[in-house]
Amino acid sequence: MQIYKVGGAVRDRLLGRAVSDIDWLVVGATVEQMQAQGYRPVGADFPVFIHPKSGEEYALARTERKSGRGYGGFVFHASPEVTLEQDLIRRDLTINAMAEDEHGNLCDPYHGKVDLDKRILRHVSPAFAEDPLRVLRVARFAARYAPLGFTVAADTLELMRQISASGELQALTAERSWKEIERALMEDQPQVFIQVLRACDALKQLMPELDALFAAPLSEGEHTLAALQQAALHGQPLHVRWACLTQALGQAIKAVNQRFKAPRECQELALLVGEMQGHCQRAPELDAPTLLELLQKFDVYRRPQRLEDFIAACEMVARGRQALEGDGYPQGDYLRGAAAAAKAVDVKSLVDKGLTGQALGEALKTERLNALQAYTQAN
Ligand code: CTP
Repeated sequence: MQIYKVGGAVRDRLLGRAVSDIDWLVVGATVEQMQAQGYRPVGADFPVFIHPKSGEEYALARTERKSGRGYGGFVFHASPEVTLEQDLIRRDLTINAMAEDEHGNLCDPYHGKVDLDKRILRHVSPAFAEDPLRVLRVARFAARYAPLGFTVAADTLELMRQISASGELQALTAERSWKEIERALMEDQPQVFIQVLRACDALKQLMPELDALFAAPLSEGEHTLAALQQAALHGQPLHVRWACLTQALGQAIKAVNQRFKAPRECQELALLVGEMQGHCQRAPELDAPTLLELLQKFDVYRRPQRLEDFIAACEMVARGRQALEGDGYPQGDYLRGAAAAAKAVDVKSLVDKGLTGQALGEALKTERLNALQAYTQAN
């Protein structure tokens, strides 16, 4: 049997990027031989094994053909006769279809190195269409490698367009799509992910609500991309980036959250930003009752970080609209000041007065309102 290093590890080493995990490909071996050498199979029907010591993944060379819609519809054919070239040709991109043998020699039958040097994301063969998730993967790689000057080859974009038009993207599970979205949002240029999805008509399939925002010139769609770009520039976490992406979707935020089964923290912040960002941008104009309502809604007394995340997302949106000069975000500072004023109300002194339950709640509310009234007058 021959063992090759494949995929991302080869690509990223050639790009001079850090390699996180290594995938290995085994040619000329049977399942029985692997097991006899101590490799543990990851699943009954899947020709992938875990190395007994390193814990790295070793996959048997395989060909793959489609037998139905969606991810569950794959049939894997692994056998010792499958060659390296046959395995590599069914992979997504030429830059992901390179292998390295045990002596460190590059095996590159589909010219991934040329495309790597030319900064092109190009599909290897028509087998690309076997997995519609690859449309999202290419968009994600475009986002990741945009700073290096990579673009998607015209014929690959055309193939992605055909996959979008086929309706196959609808068959992707929420979990697989979210994994790509999540990783793409955390890249340095996440807006490129959306731009590429839009260019191949996949955005219309995946998030028609967002796609619709691009209808007008200088549209909300462009503002959304600018907000997302700002979030990446400022190193914001995933939930802030997701809130930036969905902030202009109004009533549809809930549906988009659910469509991709976004994690709770992402869902929650997206809804809050969608509903309340107007309040943040106009914070110094808000009266005390409105400020109190906002702070209560955020439960800022028990969950201070949530207000910070909200302010961060609103700041990124404002920056995306070029509505801010310099480093500061005075609206955010104003809200922080209001939160501090409301939090300064001394609960203990009310409890010491013997107040409990609803009466305590009412008294707290009144005191906080007074504090906010004083705050709005003073600032
Ligand atoms: N691959 C593919 N089609 C997919 C998923 C994976 O062709 N839908 C192939 C590619 O050759 C890829 C390899 O399997 O390089 C390993 O996949 P994965 O670990 O998901 O991605 P990496 O290329 O290692 O990239 P990343 O750095 O994003 O993990």
